[in-house]
Amino acid sequence: MDKVYIFDTTLRDGEQVPGCQLNTVEKIEVAIALENLGVDVLEAGFPISSPGDFNSVVEISKNVSNPTICALTRAVDKDIECAAEALKFAKKGRIHTGIGSSDIHIINKLRTTRENILEKAAWAAKYARNFVDDVEFFCEDAGRADLAFLAKMVETVIANGATVVNIPDTTGYCTPDQYGAKIAYLMNNVPNIDKAIISVHCHNDLGLATANSIAGLSNGARQVEVTMNGIGERAGNTSLEEVAMIIKSHKESLNLYTDINVKNIYPTSRLITRLMRMPVQPNKAIVGRNAFAHSSGIHQDGVLKNRENYEIIDPKDVGVPESLILLTARSGRAALKHRLDLLGYHLDSEKLDNVYQEFLKVADAKKEINDQDLLEIMGINADSRMFHVVSHTVSCGNQHQSVAKIELSRDGKTYQSESEGNGPVDATLKAVDKIMGIPVKLEEYLVQAVTGGSNDVGKVHIQISKDGVFYYGFGADTDVIYASAMAYVDALNKSI
Ligand code: KIV
Ligand code: ZN
Repeated sequence: MDKVYIFDTTLRDGEQVPGCQLNTVEKIEVAIALENLGVDVLEAGFPISSPGDFNSVVEISKNVSNPTICALTRAVDKDIECAAEALKFAKKGRIHTGIGSSDIHIINKLRTTRENILEKAAWAAKYARNFVDDVEFFCEDAGRADLAFLAKMVETVIANGATVVNIPDTTGYCTPDQYGAKIAYLMNNVPNIDKAIISVHCHNDLGLATANSIAGLSNGARQVEVTMNGIGERAGNTSLEEVAMIIKSHKESLNLYTDINVKNIYPTSRLITRLMRMPVQPNKAIVGRNAFAHSSGIHQDGVLKNRENYEIIDPKDVGVPESLILLTARSGRAALKHRLDLLGYHLDSEKLDNVYQEFLKVADAKKEINDQDLLEIMGINADSRMFHVVSHTVSCGNQHQSVAKIELSRDGKTYQSESEGNGPVDATLKAVDKIMGIPVKLEEYLVQAVTGGSNDVGKVHIQISKDGVFYYGFGADTDVIYASAMAYVDALNKSI
């Protein structure tokens, strides 16, 4: 089996996304998580682009020892010198330099000729080798480049010292067949190809980044460039978790492996979501909230009989604590029984049948049935256990400390508290904690405007964990802070 080198560019291509910028301390935290995840190469930044990026490459080099630390440059002397300087503390450093390879880039962007590009490429690879032994060369927009010219460029940079050659589909243009054929052509037509590793770097403009990367690997590439959660310019880059799990799930047929510690996938994904403030779409493969959630009756019944009926990955293998069985109008008796068993109510089939008929009526009116609803359906006074938000006020602004006051009720009694916080949401959640006092970790906080206007209803989604188990809460209101209080109390109620 051949090893596929995982080149992570979350902190370079991923971090270019507007709103995802991290400070140096946050970048070090991400870099350490990526090291623990087992990436082979960590692209830490583009040092010439800003003093902050330069400093991040320096600090990551000091704090991370296993992966090779890589710095991006244009094929320009001062870029290469700056990258070399930024990498001086790296135990293993790589300069990643390159230039456009498609006629579109050569003519419209660089306003030059193919001959001049070959000269510059040769010069840049050679110049970078003066500073480090490990030089990766990127042929930008290779996805749209003329094949024979691309082959010449690859041959030239290898002859001038490139140890890795990156064939980026910069605009996400190719289909898997085309991209795979491109890599196969290079493997068969570049005479010195055995002197370098071919790397695939695919963008997701047509939703094909992962498929194209796998096609490239199947045709001889041995490094893949990825980001966690697939973040990156426009529609994003190839996602690390998808590639790692495809290679693991199909290792025999692909005859490939990676050194990724797949158990760390989910915690790393959560860390990056939190620090980059970039929510993962719920149906995202492997790390989306619904990736292991089952809501239709047939699937729930199948999963409860044997997980493998509807899951090709055990969620625990990628660090997701458990599969979720969501109770909706499409759930069957098996899912209802499972949830009631977990709540400690073991019903015989006749009683279950009665509860199921009631359940369907409520489920038709509500989207999702939570434990509180279930207890009410069973005629059990759920209010004796659950808290409700009675009233909430918050004072906040950029000139003074946020303070929240909240009143909750449970079983006819009311409870009040007040708390300061680092912003109105933090103050509100702390005020709730003072009353409910349940030790939980806030895993995710998400606000979404339903239609986008400023007078819109905001939907708040909160995920908490307690003793390794995840609980979700929802709240919706035009006042998003009040909705946050409702979502948090909802999640805490489920954890009781
Ligand atoms: O997409 C791309 O071409 C890149 C290069 C700078 C490697 O990100
Ligand atoms: Zn890119």
